[in-house]
Amino acid sequence: MPATAAIRVVPVDDALRPKLLGLHVLPAQRGWVGAIADLLADVALCPGSEAMAILHDATAIGYYRIESTPHSVTGRDLELPSLGLRGFFIDAAWQGRGLGQLALQAMFADLARRHPWARQLALMVDRNNHAALRLYLRVGFSDRGELYHGGRSGPQHLLLRPLP
Ligand SMILES: CC(C)(COP(=O)(O)OP(=O)(O)OC[C@H]1O[C@@H](n2cnc3c(N)ncnc32)[C@H](O)[C@@H]1OP(=O)(O)O)[C@@H](O)C(=O)NCCC(=O)NCCS
Repeated sequence: MPATAAIRVVPVDDALRPKLLGLHVLPAQRGWVGAIADLLADVALCPGSEAMAILHDATAIGYYRIESTPHSVTGRDLELPSLGLRGFFIDAAWQGRGLGQLALQAMFADLARRHPWARQLALMVDRNNHAALRLYLRVGFSDRGELYHGGRSGPQHLLLRPLP
């Protein structure tokens, strides 16, 4: 994958929705993120949640969701004005090329532009999701050492990253 690969993140609109419906993760990863059809249906029901597409040039290669408060991630307020990140994934066919990291960097730039008030991004990651955990730590998230026990696939770590 050339270092110049154009990775962009954009809000999901009616034109993008059908393209996202073709995305999926590997069978072994299904416990960590739901099926894209369910993710899109759910976000439509939640005021304050924004569905985002990850594009490689014009091709949709991934998805995530930004929560305008950290409540649906952590179940409580945090000390700093915070956003939440949920459902982040790269399509199985595009994984392993470093695009997850490029997508997160594009996400941080987008958050700084469109949510300049936010000082922090919060997410939960399953304790056994080692690839995602390493990726998040590489891009500046840190582990608060808090384990949550309500996750579908076992205990989850709360990770926080400052937003500039
Ligand atoms: C986690 C994820 C976003 C990483 O995206 P990516 O574009 O593959 O990221 P990278 O290419 O930078 O690889 C990151 C790490 O994942 C590993 N990896 C990538 N694809 C993999 C695969 N199919 N199986 C196992 N490990 C894989 C890489 O080897 C790398 O490991 P390293 O930290 O030892 O170098 C992607 O694997 C994914 O969508 N996983 C399923 C959904 C998920 O778990 N989301 C997180 C929810 S909190």
